[in-house]
Amino acid sequence: MAGKKTFYVTTPIYYPSNKLHIGNAYTTVLADALARFKRLTGFEVYFLTGTDEHGQKIEREAAAAGQEPQKFVDEIVTWIKELWNELDISYDDFIRTTEPRHYKKVQQIFTRFYEQGDIYKGKYEGWYCTPCEAYWQERQLQDNQNCPDCGRSVDLIAEEAYFFRMSRYADRLLEHIETNPQFILPPSRKNEMINNFLKPGLEDLCVSRTSFDWGIPVPFDPDHVIYVWLDALSNYITALGYGGADEEKMARFWPADLQLIGKDILRFHAIYWPIFLMALDLPLPKTIFGHGWLLLEEGKMSKSKGNVVDPMVLSGRYGSDAVRYFLLREIPMGHDGVYSLEALIKRINTDLANDLGNLVSRTLTMVERYFDGVLPAPAAQLAESDAQLQKLALQTPASMERWMDELKISEALAELWKLVRRSNKYIDQNSPWELARDPAQRERLGTVLYHLVESIRFIGVLLGPFMPRTPERIWRQIGLEEEAAAEARDWASLQRWGRIKPGTVVRREEDLFPRLNLERELHCALLSEETVRSKPAAEQGKKKAEPPPDVKKEQSELLTIDQFARMDLRVVTVTAAAPVAGADKLLQLTVDLGAEGERQVVAGIAEHYRPEELCGKQVLYVANLKPVKLRGVLSQGMLLAAEDKQGRVALTTLDQPLPPGSKVR
Ligand code: ME8
Ligand code: MG
Repeated sequence: MAGKKTFYVTTPIYYPSNKLHIGNAYTTVLADALARFKRLTGFEVYFLTGTDEHGQKIEREAAAAGQEPQKFVDEIVTWIKELWNELDISYDDFIRTTEPRHYKKVQQIFTRFYEQGDIYKGKYEGWYCTPCEAYWQERQLQDNQNCPDCGRSVDLIAEEAYFFRMSRYADRLLEHIETNPQFILPPSRKNEMINNFLKPGLEDLCVSRTSFDWGIPVPFDPDHVIYVWLDALSNYITALGYGGADEEKMARFWPADLQLIGKDILRFHAIYWPIFLMALDLPLPKTIFGHGWLLLEEGKMSKSKGNVVDPMVLSGRYGSDAVRYFLLREIPMGHDGVYSLEALIKRINTDLANDLGNLVSRTLTMVERYFDGVLPAPAAQLAESDAQLQKLALQTPASMERWMDELKISEALAELWKLVRRSNKYIDQNSPWELARDPAQRERLGTVLYHLVESIRFIGVLLGPFMPRTPERIWRQIGLEEEAAAEARDWASLQRWGRIKPGTVVRREEDLFPRLNLERELHCALLSEETVRSKPAAEQGKKKAEPPPDVKKEQSELLTIDQFARMDLRVVTVTAAAPVAGADKLLQLTVDLGAEGERQVVAGIAEHYRPEELCGKQVLYVANLKPVKLRGVLSQGMLLAAEDKQGRVALTTLDQPLPPGSKVR
């Protein structure tokens, strides 16, 4: 490893006050794509993420959930790690601020600041926004009463506190910002920092609290806990082993190459954090990048507002590569962007199913059909379109690398898609199906198919940082999955055209990204309840006591076949599902009865099925029940479900699809 270039990238450490949402996943997926790209291009990467577990906000959330703070965060952190696992986040380290390796060093840092006179004791009287964990001056408040960052109400606090002398370092920081154009990105945000915070004169920062306990105690004054932002920001160095724990790692990776955050917390990273580092005599990170917002159509999402999209549910339904691709491609880095299910599905259908998926399936179908799946050799003589395709493929890695170095991930992907689209166009230009009709064109046909498979190899390598699962599926199909083929799957293999060997056996598998039915997906109200959460995790976690199973009196009377035949039992397809307001057990479903149209059914299965699990399911249905109203909602007919003694419920599905409306006899 000696001599290898290093790359240290960090994400914010998220508050485990609730499950994370698609906005937090966005930052982490961006960081992951950058980390993977750097690894691919030969860097030794250290990719850090983690959780920010102390502070008044967490203490309050835990209390509201009736739990000890540590236990409360432990559960959420477990979920967060599962989420990163689901999204293939390749972090090298996950730091939790409650770990001794972190909090002991934070105490050491605080003591050092105190001893060198950076910190002094005083009294804080002013405003505090608990959701943002931020202090505000009266004059900074929005409409004289709310937090200027999040707009929520602030608390008045008056307590003894330690202060950090920001003024000592403000001039040095201003100079650093002005002479290092890469330090705060995008550039527009730099001016915001200078004009809003540095130019008006930086006030000393309050760095301890006494009115609650959930934090790292000040070692020499244990009535105080260290301000959660001083605690949290330090994670970027404590994780490396700052303060003697791992000098070698610290020297190798600090200063960070890229600290990726959302613009909400730029002030903490671009002002306080560099000043803490100066006070520690450490170099400043090379780049702090404050990216934009992922918005919902109805506005900003936030854990504490509760209107959030659950990335776990999305990934479960559409696959993590598709969700990652959407996040990376849809929003140019640094800008705000809108998340909508419709935009996600459209990306999947156009870029993934149409462009990429079709390229692979069309190509492999033809190699199988015309050459029995054995990759033919290209002719020595190249046509114009061959040369163009080669040229574009060979240029693409460097173009992508330039964009990635500029932190323009969406543009890098757009570059890769030029190659994907060019390859599809190459198919149309050369019409292999016509070549196949003419035995004299056999060699030309072979050349065309060879070029396509080799281009797919380039695409497979270049997709890896963005969509880590898809390359594996491509390698299996083009016969490059074995260890022995590793040198045809790395960055260096893209320097030369023609690394895939003629004679390689290809095997077409199922489509990479089947086209989704937009109408159906939107109809399925996926956004309804599970993906847009409306309750805090604490409440969601609490399972309601199951009602005693409604044991029906056994019917001793036997039915005649005619009696049975009076029941109109049918197959229906669920096309939409949503909760019924104010009824925890009920779901309102739309079912498709084929020629007879749609019906609305209210079913008592909300504790057993999530709405999005039901969409598309075929279930047995009693069609000729008298309609009733349940909680004011009309229910026509009934779905058949079985229930065991423990109260587990299973719907009666079919073991193979049948047209909706089919009769059950
Ligand atoms: O602020 N769009 O943690 P946090 C895009 N613990 N990104 C979003 C987003 C959205 N709608 N919502 C959140 C904290 N993010 C502190 C950080 S670091 C030393 C301490 C992302 O859980 C974005 O990266 O509130 C934002 O900065 C971060 O989540 C805030 O996460
Ligand atoms: Mg936040």
